[in-house]
Amino acid sequence: CGIIGVLGSSEAAPRILTGLKRLEYRGYDSAGIATISDGTLDRRRAPGKLTNLETALSTTPLNGTGGIGHTRWATHGVPNETNAHPHATHRVAVVHNGIIENYAELRQELEAKGVVFESVTDAEVCPQLITHYLETENCTPVEAFRKAIERMRGAFAFAAIFSGEDDLMICGRKGSPLAIGRGDGEMYLGSDAYSLAPFTNRIIYLEEGDWAVIKREKLEIFDEAGNPVSRPETVSSASQGLVDKDGHRHFMAKEIHEQPEVIAHTISRYIDGTSKTINLPNGAFDFAKLDRLTISACGTAYYAGLVAKYWFERWARLPIEIDVASELRYRDVPWTKDGGALFITQSGETADTLSALREARKNGQQIASVVNVPESSIARESDIVFPMAAGPEIGVASTKAFTCQLAALACIAIAAGRQRGTLSAEEESELVSGLLEIPRLVAEALKQSDKIETIARDIAKATGIFYIGRGVSYPMALEGALKLKEISYLHAEGYASGELKHGPIALIDENLPIAVIAPVDAHFEKTVSNMQEVMARDGKALLISCKDGIARAGEKTWANIETPKSHPLLSPIVYAVPIQLLAYFTATTKGTDVDQPRNLAKSVTVE
Ligand code: G6P
Repeated sequence: CGIIGVLGSSEAAPRILTGLKRLEYRGYDSAGIATISDGTLDRRRAPGKLTNLETALSTTPLNGTGGIGHTRWATHGVPNETNAHPHATHRVAVVHNGIIENYAELRQELEAKGVVFESVTDAEVCPQLITHYLETENCTPVEAFRKAIERMRGAFAFAAIFSGEDDLMICGRKGSPLAIGRGDGEMYLGSDAYSLAPFTNRIIYLEEGDWAVIKREKLEIFDEAGNPVSRPETVSSASQGLVDKDGHRHFMAKEIHEQPEVIAHTISRYIDGTSKTINLPNGAFDFAKLDRLTISACGTAYYAGLVAKYWFERWARLPIEIDVASELRYRDVPWTKDGGALFITQSGETADTLSALREARKNGQQIASVVNVPESSIARESDIVFPMAAGPEIGVASTKAFTCQLAALACIAIAAGRQRGTLSAEEESELVSGLLEIPRLVAEALKQSDKIETIARDIAKATGIFYIGRGVSYPMALEGALKLKEISYLHAEGYASGELKHGPIALIDENLPIAVIAPVDAHFEKTVSNMQEVMARDGKALLISCKDGIARAGEKTWANIETPKSHPLLSPIVYAVPIQLLAYFTATTKGTDVDQPRNLAKSVTVE
């Protein structure tokens, strides 16, 4: 789901396509472009990947130097050509991201007036509503757009071009991000600065509720109340060249292999290597004054939060409330007076996480976030942003962002412990030394790649797989299962080791292997007992442990993956590698679309 707009001086369609390609990583299942040429609107749309749209454009090209484009991730209506954007009438073409919550009501109202809809999408009410105001109330495009945006409820962004108006593009933002790019006698519009990098690095971010009237030589921005406002122009650092695979078969493989480097970058933002202490950015929480920390996120980022819960409890003795964002925001949380809330997100645009953040803000919590995209909505709405330095993550399944989130969270939890007086200077320096070793250990873990590929070939034939782990390895079991589901479509579940016997063990047979995440830590023996319960019932166990652990428990297992030994509480950052590789090679064995798995989106800007 992404938006591109161009008002330029050369053919617009190929440029819009270039921008859309840079939004591909967000996931989508259809795409389209509309242009304006000598006052006439025209469009091409196609289900599936952008190559289908490219084919449609080469058979019947679109003329015009202005236009809008869209990649759609289906919410209302299947991903076919009719439901693809831009949606258009003879007066206006519109691209839209997000969900219009009251679309059914608006559609009914328009249908009662004789308007005929062509698609089943919520988005189509937008051009129909604009057209209605243009025709029945004789509004100008700006007035009609303004009236339409006022009627629509939900979280969205949209952009429109109008027949008879070759030098006009209007856009609005309510919940989903939009960036305007300024060129030389040209203007651009995109869901992010990265998509506009081939055209310009001069970027203006619209704020919540803003809408803008864009012409080649003139930009006017208004706030929700309709007052003209000026928003700062920034110079974006998004790189021009397409992020490439650096010789890897998939972005995911490249991103897995980048981890030693990006984890090192991340911890270097926090660690003073000489004094072996952690420094948090200025303005961070005063952890000594917090009475509770609420952590929330979605998907893989949520599992990073679950690991961090163990760290905050252990090192900082800080009460933690944690839930997935889509639940937290609707629960009636009894917020505390001196609470802090921490949101974890790669994209910084996940709609559920953003809503949970706003709920926490409404309830007087101090807001912090761990975000990979510094210019994102969540970063901009946080009181304090804890940096992570994963760089652009293109593969839909999160890998390096996850380990960088963990690295940043470990640093934050250690600093919290020091501030609260629950972690001694020696313990801090021991943990810092442990963290400094992590990039190397991750590089070491990557060397098991060939062995893991062999194991994955067998796993691909299984009916499913369970992961188990205890303590900090429990969230890793959940993450291991999620990775497998996401990219290999193999049924996988993660359980707390101790829970296996309370139900799931009934499913174990020779076709359902169980992967055991067992670093040698305080829980090692207990987890090994749980593994043995499985083996006693003819289950196939894959033990993931260090050399010592495998020597102690790996004799009668089905297979073992050796993973370097780290500080026991920091093991998740290292054990992330074998579980990522296992998912990756299971997927390549099965031949699935690793970087853009079916039905998934990288950045989910709908609730
Ligand atoms: C999507 C992705 C997941 C990701 C989740 C949270 O569902 O497919 O891989 O973990 O969103 O994304 P965020 O950008 O907030 O970390």
